[in-house]
Amino acid sequence: MLRVIAIDGPAASGKSSTAGLVAERLGWAHLDSGALYRALTLAALDNLGEEAWPAQQIVDLAERLPVRLVLVDNRFRPEVAGADVEQAIRGDRVTRSVSMMAAIPEVRTWVNAQQRRAVEGVKARGGSRGVVVDGRDIGTVVFPEAPLKIFLTATADERARRRLSQRGQTVDGELVRRESQALAARDAADSNRPIAPLKPAPDAVLLDTTALTLEQQVARVVELARGRFPG
Ligand code: CDP
Ligand code: CDP
Repeated sequence: MLRVIAIDGPAASGKSSTAGLVAERLGWAHLDSGALYRALTLAALDNLGEEAWPAQQIVDLAERLPVRLVLVDNRFRPEVAGADVEQAIRGDRVTRSVSMMAAIPEVRTWVNAQQRRAVEGVKARGGSRGVVVDGRDIGTVVFPEAPLKIFLTATADERARRRLSQRGQTVDGELVRRESQALAARDAADSNRPIAPLKPAPDAVLLDTTALTLEQQVARVVELARGRFPG
């Protein structure tokens, strides 16, 4: 049985925080697939400029630099040319362009191969450790055979408030309105693209977290995981 938990959902719904804590409690590894799309976007902006990027140039660049995921203390961290880019990929410049990058079919094929290799690597080390993977298409495309799939949602305003407080910004009305619009625009781009659109897998457990605390949603996923992955 594939030891993967897939956590998908729109921007700032709590995927990475939930996946990280669930992984910690189960003693599993955590892979944030969005970090790979973000690292590729950072690499392209820095090396290929701001204009339209030919697909093959992106993949060649990713192999050459390289752009990769490195397992450190049970967490896959994004690296570009040997440097950790965990912080650098969270800025507005990358966020504005990442959905465009993620709509390129060749890029998705490359990213999916990295994810499967990462999971194989964990499996090859033996033991019962699995991987909690979060993103947009993990349950539908990357690991459709994952025994547990979660689709997290929350209202756009609640997600905007969470993203602002995560960044240490004040959570006032006007900022919430603007952030909420930016998140909704990215969700629309991710949901309406022809390839691997953001949507729940038919067998995903839907979890509306609007009125939940992070601890409550983590506890719920851990409980489901203990039921699906005995031992
Ligand atoms: O953390 P946040 O929800 O803001 O975004 P992210 O998970 O870092 O993902 C950034 C972008 O990468 C998304 O808006 C999608 O365009 C893309 N993505 C994707 O297409 N498929 C995935 N499995 C993960 C991310
Ligand atoms: O990965 P994704 O973009 O879906 O979201 P995230 O970066 O994991 O979560 C955004 C923020 O919401 C983090 O600071 C979480 O601690 C916070 N949060 C949450 O995920 N769930 C709640 N019920 C409340 C807050």
